[in-house]
Amino acid sequence: MLFKITVLGDGGVGKTALTVQFTMSSFVETYDPTIEDCYRKQWVVDDQPCLLEVLDTAGQEEYTALRDQWIRDGEGFLIVYSITSRATFERVERIVERVIRVKDENSLNNNNNNSTYGIYQNHYNYSSSQSSTINPTRSLNKIPIVIVGNKKDQYHSREVSTEEGIQLSKSLNCHFFETSAKTNNNVENSFKSLVRQIKVS
Ligand code: GTP
Repeated sequence: MLFKITVLGDGGVGKTALTVQFTMSSFVETYDPTIEDCYRKQWVVDDQPCLLEVLDTAGQEEYTALRDQWIRDGEGFLIVYSITSRATFERVERIVERVIRVKDENSLNNNNNNSTYGIYQNHYNYSSSQSSTINPTRSLNKIPIVIVGNKKDQYHSREVSTEEGIQLSKSLNCHFFETSAKTNNNVENSFKSLVRQIKVS
């Protein structure tokens, strides 16, 4: 079974480091801004073999034009901020909203074409008369999203408390983990939570 995961978040929060730690068990010390890279990993989740395709995206502002396509390509989303940067935390809500909007548009287009879109087919029932209404709240439960507060090992530079991360994730109805790509803390748990959500979506 193939799972397509897209990793989103501001520049420098550790998207590449998390992806490389997860797929290749090593930590990338250097900062080399990504444009787009795809990684694959064979894994077993709940006794079921699966192939994960992880799309590591650009956090830098100049690449936001590519973002909607990355969202269309993904089934599940790891949305990353750094606990050492409040600005990156403050961007999370906007990214979640964007994911919901793009997936809604995608779903509407597919329904209007009389086709079913894989991850929604058990949940979505828009008739064409409803097609102009996009209701983010309705969609929140259905899109597999995990919010990740990374760089947990840098606790001396913490700008965002664990409680704030939990509260935001609750309000957006997303799962939440604090991770460290450096010490490999909670990295697998974050991806596992996403795979489990995709499975039931
Ligand atoms: P863009 O490609 O610009 O979007 O950045 P990114 O989000 O992929 O960040 P990247 O993974 O390249 O990490 C940026 C810097 O933070 C690198 O120097 C990493 O080594 C460092 N870093 C990433 N994760 C961690 C972490 O968990 N702990 C610590 N201490 N450093 C980290």
